[in-house]
Parts: sequence; C-alpha cells; structure tokens
Amino acid sequence: MNAIPEVLDRDRYARCIKASKSVRWDIEEDVIRGRRFDRTKKYLPDGLSLLDEFTTLSREEKRFVSQIQGWTYANIFGLVERYINAKVLELSSAYWTGDQIALEALIRFSDEELKHQALFRRVNEMIRETLPSGYGFDFDPDDVARAVLASSTWAVLALTLHIELFTQLHYRQSIDPDAELSELFKDVFLYHWKEESQHAILDELELKRHDRTLTDEQRDQGVDDFIALVGAVDGILQAQARSDASYFVVRCSRLVGVEERTQIEAAFLKAYRWQYILSGAGHPRFVEVLTSLITEEQGQRIQAALATLPQA
Ligand SMILES: [Fe+2]
Ligand SMILES: [Fe+2]
Repeated sequence: MNAIPEVLDRDRYARCIKASKSVRWDIEEDVIRGRRFDRTKKYLPDGLSLLDEFTTLSREEKRFVSQIQGWTYANIFGLVERYINAKVLELSSAYWTGDQIALEALIRFSDEELKHQALFRRVNEMIRETLPSGYGFDFDPDDVARAVLASSTWAVLALTLHIELFTQLHYRQSIDPDAELSELFKDVFLYHWKEESQHAILDELELKRHDRTLTDEQRDQGVDDFIALVGAVDGILQAQARSDASYFVVRCSRLVGVEERTQIEAAFLKAYRWQYILSGAGHPRFVEVLTSLITEEQGQRIQAALATLPQA
C-alpha cells in the first residue's frame, strides 16, 4: 500500500485532536449561560424550515412552525448521535493497540457526541417549558441505534458522513446568517457546529480506511444498505411530519380544514426531507467522497432511490 496517504492521514487525525482541544465547550457555562428560549423569535431558519411552503399560514403561525421544527431538529440530532457514538467506539477498537493518535481522535469524537446528546436532552426540556403541551417525538434512540448498527459499516459510515457534513452546511448557510432567530437556539448550533467539523473529517478518514478493506461485492452490498438506511430515515421523517403537523393543527388557535391540514403535513415532510436527506446528499464534499469510492452505476442507483421517495 502507498505509505504517503497513511502519513497524511495520521496528520489529519492529529489535527482533529488539536481542534477538539481548542474548541471544547461546556453546556451550561458556554452554551446555555442561564438563558431561556424566547417564544417571540424563530428557532429554525427559513432556509431549513422552508416556511414559504406553508402558504396558508399567518406570520405568527409560521413562527410557531419554525419553533416546532427547531424542537424536532434538536431531537433528531439527539436521536442519531446515539448510533454515531456507538459506531465510533466500535471503530476505535482497530487502534486499541497501535495508532494512539487515531485512538485519541476517536475517543474525543465519542466524548463529544455523549455531551451533544446531553445538550439536546437539555434543549428538549427547555423548549418543552416554552411551547404548548402535546408535542411528541416517539423514537427510542437505543432502538434506532440497534437497527442502524445492524447495517454494514460502509453504509453506516456513509450515512454518518452525510449527517455530519450537512450539520456544518446548515449552520454556515442558514442558521448563522438569519438575524431573526432566537439567540440561544443559534448558540446551541454554533457550539455544536464547532465540534462537528472534526467529526466529518474523521468520518471520511474512517470510511476510506474501511472501504480499502472491501471486495467489490461487499461495497455493492454497502450501497444497497445505504439506500435502505436513507429509506429508514425517511420513514422517521414521515412519522414526525405527521406528528408535528398534528401538534400544529391542535395548538394553532383556529380551525384547520382537512385540505389545509394535508398541505401543512406535506410542507413539514418537504422541509424534513430537505434538512435530513437532500441538503446532505447534494453536499459537494459528500458527492466527491462517495463518487471516489463507487461506480457510476452505483451512483445512479443512489440517485434513483432519492428521486423516488414516496409522497406524503
Ligand atoms: Fe454532535
Ligand atoms: Fe458529530
């Protein structure tokens, strides 16, 4: 095997450790700082919540939709980080004896994801204090983690790279530039983004390292598994879009007819697919890494699967 990429890789693991040490933050002292969520502000920015799709709603109702979506955004991260952390710990076993730099980088990654889950549990409880009762998010992180981890490592790492890249894209392109957002909500995702930058680099290193050990048949299975995982994510998004639309309709202080309710649910699902599937699938780095590993036919198979997500 060519030794130069290995030397470069070791340097990248070392730089992740350095970055992890320099940005490290504390949930209460740095992020929350004694603040509460403000109900007069939006939580999730328009670029992610696709508020323009909610054509029948007033300005205040749209703000409520952005708050519901922000609540779900925090909960989705809390959900997926359970499986991500378990996978990172599993991958770290390759370095228990041997490369202690790579081991430290992955252990820090794991430690950060544990902290992020605690942050998102805290955010969930804090938003619960400010918004009306009746919101539901009924997924068990352990059940989801067990289901994801039953898939092949190639597929799990591809899904993880996708998630950690879109996290950064969302912050830089949508959350940071929006002046109308809750300052606290913005800070939650500013601090989260600071630690996620290293994670995406490590996901890529580990995906490429794992990919080099596979046969063509195993990689092909990985592509099928990745498509199945995206389908499972979409199943979660469909259920949550139904749940969030129903919460909105019950709590929006007016009667909503069947037709409008269907439109609202479809708008939630469109926003969630944009947030958790399509914005990441089109991320230039994700496309670059994936196309460097797979054949044209495999790429087309993934595209075809994305194009045929069922309608609400
Ligand atoms: Fe995280
Ligand atoms: Fe992460």
